Amino acid sequence: MAEVMLEKVSKKFGSVVAVDNVNLNIKDGEFLVLLGPSGCGKTTTLRLIAGLEELTSGNIYIGNKIVNNVPPKDRNIAMVFQNYALYPHMNVYQNISFGLTMRKVPKDVIDKKVKEVSGMLGLESLLYRKPKELSGGQKQRTALARAIVRDPKVFLMDEPLSNLDAKLRVQTRGELIRLHERLGVTTIYVTHDQTEAMTLGDRVVVMNKGLIQQIGTPKGVYNKPVNKFVAGFIGTPPMNFIDAEISEKNGDLYLSNKDIGIKLTKEQSIKVHKVKLSNNNVIFGVRAKDFYLEKEISTDEKAAMQEIIVTIDFVELMGSETFIHFRINDALCVARMSANEDYAMGAKLDIFVDISKINVFGKETENAIL
Ligand SMILES: Nc1ncnc2c1ncn2[C@@H]1O[C@H](COP(=O)(O)OP(=O)(O)OP(=O)(O)O)[C@@H](O)[C@H]1O
Ligand SMILES: [Mg+2]
Repeated sequence: MAEVMLEKVSKKFGSVVAVDNVNLNIKDGEFLVLLGPSGCGKTTTLRLIAGLEELTSGNIYIGNKIVNNVPPKDRNIAMVFQNYALYPHMNVYQNISFGLTMRKVPKDVIDKKVKEVSGMLGLESLLYRKPKELSGGQKQRTALARAIVRDPKVFLMDEPLSNLDAKLRVQTRGELIRLHERLGVTTIYVTHDQTEAMTLGDRVVVMNKGLIQQIGTPKGVYNKPVNKFVAGFIGTPPMNFIDAEISEKNGDLYLSNKDIGIKLTKEQSIKVHKVKLSNNNVIFGVRAKDFYLEKEISTDEKAAMQEIIVTIDFVELMGSETFIHFRINDALCVARMSANEDYAMGAKLDIFVDISKINVFGKETENAIL
């Protein structure tokens, strides 16, 4: 079993709280992604699990055994770094086999393992090259091979793809997914790239300022963000945020400001009533994909949508789609629209919002109400 458990884990550097009371249960064989902006404590969390940093408080368990005082080399984990950290004077074969050589594994066993892993990662023809004779992607695959060959119980990966160009990153992402399917090793993967997190993770942990904001499946955190931070961090383009108020008229609740008046559904109203708001100020959040043109929706669908007339600020042609920028209640907004239409700057556009997809956050708490 290679479950990893963090129990009330904190790490302070002087007065900086890098990791703040983190509780996390990573299942055996799971691919878990730690996602968050620069400085939120992702690397520190990994280094604590690896034993490269000392805990300020809390406990870490690997395979049900407390490892607080176990040195890194005895934790049976392998770490892959952003900068590959290959030995420059050794060739690919020597880099991959270094850990095994140090552990005095017999030569023929090492040779078999290196051949197997280099085959898995397409490195067979590169085994006698030095790192400086490799491309970025080949270096990263060598670093991965070096981690895999040790048969660790847990892989820790810190932004392993960030030095690769966009195309290679997508390709290597695919390789990582296949490797995980094949090896099934518990993996904790750090990134600040939400696309990477969404495509790789069984579950995603969103962090900010040392604190866990939300843990969930990629779909879960995308569809039901618990607060404005998560909503804004996950998804491209980022969610639109518009100041609004909750108001009541004839027993119905409305989300309104000078440009909109959206009547909430019964279920939504019940949810809003449940939250004891200290005032009526909220933030209306809507994703670019949840705006529609009238011709794209049926009459039935229209009944569940709110019409908004906007003035087009500017238009971005993306090829397969077009981003339309406009303002609602002075907030800059973007809608993802069909590329088959022509849109003119300054023109009025009639758009429809799917009411069931809207998000509402408390203005002060920034926590999700809807
Ligand atoms: N050795 C250290 N000494 C002092 N402060 C540190 C040390 N290591 C990290 N920190 C601080 O702890 C916080 C978390 O850092 P960490 O490296 O874990 O962030 P990160 O999420 O990995 O960021 P990035 O995406 O930029 O790599 C930051 O405020 C950082 O400045
Ligand atoms: Mg980092």
